[in-house]
Amino acid sequence: MTYVYPPVSDKIPRMLHGADYNPEQWLRYPEVLEEDIRLMKLAKCNVMSIGIFSWAMLEPEEGVFTFEWMDQVLERFAANGIYAFLATPSGARPAWMAQKYPEVLRTEENRVRNLFGFRHNHCPTSPVYREKTRIINTKLAERYSDHPAIIGWHISNEFGGDCHCELCQAEFRKFLQDKYGTLDELNHAWWTTFWSHTVTDWSQVESPAPHGEKQVHAMNLDWRRFVTQRTVDFVKHETAPLKAVNPNLPVTTNFMEFYEGLDYWKFADALDFLSWDSYPTWHDADEESTQAAKIAMMHDIVRSIKGGQPFLLMESTPSLTNWQDVSKLKRPGMHLLASLQAVAHGSDSVQYFQWRKSRGSSEKLHGAVVDHVGHEHTRVFKDVTDVGAALEGMDRIVGTSVPAEAAIIFDWENRWAVKDSQGPRNKGVKYEETVQKQHEALWKLGVPTDMISMDADFAKYKLIVAPMLYMVREGVGERLEKFVENGGTLVVTYWSGIVNETDLCFLGGFPGPLRKVLGIWSEELEGLHDRDRNALRLNGNGALGLSGEYEISEICDLIHLEGAQSLGEYASDFYADRPALTVNAFGEGEAYYVAARAGGTFDDDFLSALVQRAGVARSLNVTFPAGTSAHLRTDGEHDFVFVQNYTPNAVVFPLDGRAYFDLESGRQADPELRLPPYGVRVLERQRS
Ligand code: GLA
Ligand code: ZN
Repeated sequence: MTYVYPPVSDKIPRMLHGADYNPEQWLRYPEVLEEDIRLMKLAKCNVMSIGIFSWAMLEPEEGVFTFEWMDQVLERFAANGIYAFLATPSGARPAWMAQKYPEVLRTEENRVRNLFGFRHNHCPTSPVYREKTRIINTKLAERYSDHPAIIGWHISNEFGGDCHCELCQAEFRKFLQDKYGTLDELNHAWWTTFWSHTVTDWSQVESPAPHGEKQVHAMNLDWRRFVTQRTVDFVKHETAPLKAVNPNLPVTTNFMEFYEGLDYWKFADALDFLSWDSYPTWHDADEESTQAAKIAMMHDIVRSIKGGQPFLLMESTPSLTNWQDVSKLKRPGMHLLASLQAVAHGSDSVQYFQWRKSRGSSEKLHGAVVDHVGHEHTRVFKDVTDVGAALEGMDRIVGTSVPAEAAIIFDWENRWAVKDSQGPRNKGVKYEETVQKQHEALWKLGVPTDMISMDADFAKYKLIVAPMLYMVREGVGERLEKFVENGGTLVVTYWSGIVNETDLCFLGGFPGPLRKVLGIWSEELEGLHDRDRNALRLNGNGALGLSGEYEISEICDLIHLEGAQSLGEYASDFYADRPALTVNAFGEGEAYYVAARAGGTFDDDFLSALVQRAGVARSLNVTFPAGTSAHLRTDGEHDFVFVQNYTPNAVVFPLDGRAYFDLESGRQADPELRLPPYGVRVLERQRS
């Protein structure tokens, strides 16, 4: 396994700390720009992302370029030891461009073209837009690629959405022709004989529309695949002129939290490193630790997409997030805790949106390092400086990895398919929530966990959890069989093994390609009303020897044993006493099937027993106090353990008797760690 990766840039092999910086908003206030440099150094910031929405200031008229202000900012950065990610400006375009070439604007699902406004509002196919981005990107690359302050490219901003213009429709048809070759193949894959939807000419294919086609699930899936492919293609289009000038300057684009519209796995090869924007709702209705586990899962996803390579936390708020329902302030301690949580899961930076609050428009009240008051004597500025100070002591953690032996399959195509399908519970099958619950159970145990697609290499894990693996692409069943045969532990839940990659149901019995490894046959699946309850009665059988009763709600799978052993049965209804939790010994390993949605502490109890049985490493082998967790990174010789308290109370956190050193003070830690409310400590130990 790879333990240490190179830093994003050799120019600064340190933890990065900084923010989105928009000097173009302040060109009429030169004193502000000068003051910013002083404040950046004071806040211990060493990197800024600039130019993200600067197109109108870089090219105020078609073909007229004004880079002087950017030159000055970068000069001042270089003179003051501040580095920059330089953005390509395609996330928002100038008004003149939209006016002269309306085709650059996006056409929505209803086939109406948007007016100029907002941002992230372009067509990824428009030849004019592609040409304009090529020109501006080339100019930026030629001017700044070798600038001492520049350490990488920030491609556009938060790619998302889709365009339904005629140009995109034509590309969609080409995509389908490449994929299926013939209309006959397409019609079969899409099962279009249903409702007489057979397509007899490629030109009859149209993207999904609220007033047109939306019921052909395979087509919806292909559209989303196409949108991902188009967006990745646009990223490549943007990157080509940058790489042509300096192939060594790395590129990223900033992902969004759990964004559904794009299959983020498909971006792995187009980007040199990954980054994402995190806006948790701390201090909201959720238990703080549930929110923490949810954010941890997104960190784990982003890290896993590039096979464990560290990523960057490209944006987070230093205080409040003004677009959320309620703009809650972070309680004392929370900012450092949330920031170091990212590092614990593999981030080599803590970056913010935004450096300075804009004076006007929609984000004028969004959290920022520098508030409208303009000086450093604020609580938030101090919080930020504290994070900067903590990161300064973490150079040794840069590039280190998260040694995951457990993985959860969270596959975008499966996510699309399982949510689009009708039945068994159109009120919501709660796919993401189900995945999150599994992840949270592992997070609470401090189990380093990768979040993988079904194409991932399974061999490196001891435990794989596959919640609601409704879609099983070709070869995946066989690969999971191999994994178990070789000694792996597999957990699959209800509503798995139902369709292939074009949403055609498996013939010959569910769970299709997973039937053999699981040793069961699923005959029927029932959706329950919200008020309905059943129960899972564990019978104490098998090596796990689990007993007790757990409430069941929402989904019940009626299965038959085909070699598997029942570990628990339904308690009531006409299927009382039929198996609801099973295990199948298969080769050297075991495959578990969870037939129903069991509540209470079932996921916690079950996964904790499995972690133990499968010998999956935890970050710290002790019982964690409620609301706390510990996660780690390692360089192969030293472990860096991040102990985190997500409660508003001080807690005593027991260590496991090994020698631990506090990373900040260098002193040996007491056998019990005292953590303040929302406290976090980083401990170092020898890797055993
Ligand atoms: C996103 C965008 C930023 C900003 C923030 C506000 O992440 O990338 O430009 O709008 O949200 O939270
Ligand atoms: Zn388009």
